[in-house]
Amino acid sequence: GPGFPQVVVLVGATGDLARRKLLPGLFHLCTAGFIPGCRIVGVSLDEIDVEGFRAIARASLDEFGSRKTTPDAWDAFAAALDYVPLSAGASALRAAVERAEAALGRECRRLHYLSVPPNAALTVVRTLGEAGLVERSRIVMEKPFGTDLASAVALNGKLHEVFQEAQIFRIDHFLGKEPAQNILAFRFANGLFEPIWNRNFIDHVQIDVPETLGLGKRAGFYEQTGAYRDMVVTHLFQILAFMAMEPPTALEPAPISEEKNKVFRSMEPIRPADVVRGQYSGYRGEEGVDPDSDTETFIALKCHIDNWRWAGVPFYLRTGKRLAEGQRIISIAFREPPKSMFPPGSGVGAQGPDHLTFDLADASKMSLSFYGKRPGPGMRLDKLSLQFAMRDTGMAGEVLEAYERLILDAMRGDRTLFTTAEGIERLWEVSTPLLESPPPVRLYEAGSWGPKAVHQLIAPHAWRLPF
Ligand code: BG6
Repeated sequence: GPGFPQVVVLVGATGDLARRKLLPGLFHLCTAGFIPGCRIVGVSLDEIDVEGFRAIARASLDEFGSRKTTPDAWDAFAAALDYVPLSAGASALRAAVERAEAALGRECRRLHYLSVPPNAALTVVRTLGEAGLVERSRIVMEKPFGTDLASAVALNGKLHEVFQEAQIFRIDHFLGKEPAQNILAFRFANGLFEPIWNRNFIDHVQIDVPETLGLGKRAGFYEQTGAYRDMVVTHLFQILAFMAMEPPTALEPAPISEEKNKVFRSMEPIRPADVVRGQYSGYRGEEGVDPDSDTETFIALKCHIDNWRWAGVPFYLRTGKRLAEGQRIISIAFREPPKSMFPPGSGVGAQGPDHLTFDLADASKMSLSFYGKRPGPGMRLDKLSLQFAMRDTGMAGEVLEAYERLILDAMRGDRTLFTTAEGIERLWEVSTPLLESPPPVRLYEAGSWGPKAVHQLIAPHAWRLPF
């Protein structure tokens, strides 16, 4: 763990992410002994006092905490909470941090966690600067980092007026998921698959993250972002980089970032013709949504990585809200065998190509599906599979939630699983044609698999989901 006690300044402390993930995650890190002392100063636009904040934290543990809360653990955590409304200004914030440091007694480090929309981040950074809370501090920035290339470059420039690059941790929580890191282990710790991990053997790749969730109380955030900025330019492209990158020279931050950034540099700009944008019917009637909103709640696209390993291999990405199922899978479809000797009607190829599938569920799952013989006379084939589920190994209890893992890494100063300014700027650059001329949104029924056009997008292949 980190060697020093930590004062966490949690900005956006009453928001959706704080309640769903950050407060339960901090509770676990603080009470399970990962950090040698921790106090949390909540900050938000809400005019509440510390008791109000404790009530929000308590409710968030009850609703979203995945682990048991004992009365003692809760009392200790509640005592470590403080709250300052943003309107109270820089000096009130400074005073609260000083109180927290005094209570911790030893030399501390500060972690400023900015869980705020892109247009609010800079104001907060300036306030931290004015409050003199820059030394001994690291700052975690939530995605989306900017809303396009120009705003991301401007944001980086302004950030650097206050914080040094080494202090800035741009978080992408998908990289904190155990199964995402398991992609690296799987690819680089085994001799079996790496030789076929290229255009000669792989036909196409799907990264498919449908969600059943709707907007919740996030209309204000979502209207400004939409599915592309919320999920694709961040999480899905980061996962794509783990799948597509060359072996890094070492499993360390700089070599890993370098290989990921090379993938991003090789990506072809996204062509609007390769994109299906969707919006579920009823979205425009949701509270806080513009009745004429053009925000997409669904997106599917085809992209290409124009390098030696991947030339000609399409990557299909899809995600959206209010879809039929919640899944997070990466599926690799292998090329067909060069010649079929099986009689017509045997079933070979009838259930699509053979696949390797990673499931990004909280405990890793993987499966390899292939054709095999059905028992009985003649040669009839069926799709069979080899399956691995971390759940069955007895190790699943050790899984850290993505945010817990990443908060701990930021406290320790380990950037391995964080994104870089260069990578993010390149991804916005790749996105520019789409952001400048987005195709119109197509309506889809809530509870469906999105607009029909997703099938044309992927033809002659087919979506692996639903299983
Ligand atoms: C967040 C997005 O970053 O990721 C949400 O803002 C989305 O819209 C969420 O629902 C999905 O994360 P997870 O960990 O539940 O797959």
